[in-house]
Amino acid sequence: MKVGPEKLRSAAYAAVDARVESGMVVGLGSGSTASWAVRRIGELLSSGELENVRGIPTSETTARLALEVGIPLVGLSEARPETTIDGADEIGPRLTLIKGHGGALLREKIVAGAGGGLIVVADASKLVDFLGRDSLPVEVEPFGCESTFEALSSLGCEPQLRLLDGNPERPFVTDGGHYTVDCRFPPITDPASLEVQIKRIPGALECGLFVGLARMAFVVHEDGTAVIEASAP
Ligand code: A5P
Repeated sequence: MKVGPEKLRSAAYAAVDARVESGMVVGLGSGSTASWAVRRIGELLSSGELENVRGIPTSETTARLALEVGIPLVGLSEARPETTIDGADEIGPRLTLIKGHGGALLREKIVAGAGGGLIVVADASKLVDFLGRDSLPVEVEPFGCESTFEALSSLGCEPQLRLLDGNPERPFVTDGGHYTVDCRFPPITDPASLEVQIKRIPGALECGLFVGLARMAFVVHEDGTAVIEASAP
């Protein structure tokens, strides 16, 4: 069930309060839910309840917000995240995820994969029995993208180039200068092997399947927040 923004904000705040400590380097996710976590870290830094927390942003938008709220930034050349807090588009069995509807999946996956474990915050409407209820975003290199689309189709999906305002002349371009293709698959029963198949396609830079990256999820229901650990069945 979809909950109001107030409840989602409380869950993002709870995730920060539970998982972020002074001195940490934190991966900062992208999207509306992650932005609450960024704001909370900023709040705690300015009140002095947290000290010396630095952030690794997963998008230019998040970098701007983090600086605005007073979080110093570092890059992966200087540090590794000790935890990353982010939203998700779908949460499947064993905390497998689909991410990237907001257009930042490549950087989100690089940061989440750099260590420390990913903490997800999302409302219960994002829980699915099988990933693939909605499309799976794939970030692709613009060069030769037509042949990348063909290769994606051969995996049994309908790829659709993401556009700005539905204008075929204006593809959506990621922070890294790539295109995003939204691929509608039948229910994804084996996300790990689909991820491998997609990554074998030369122009497919990364897909929004996050397998084995999420350590914990704060899932917001109408009557409270449930914490799911990756080790739970
Ligand atoms: C950004 O690329 C996405 O992975 C977001 O984390 C995801 O779309 C969730 O976004 P919301 O918190 O805005 O629902």
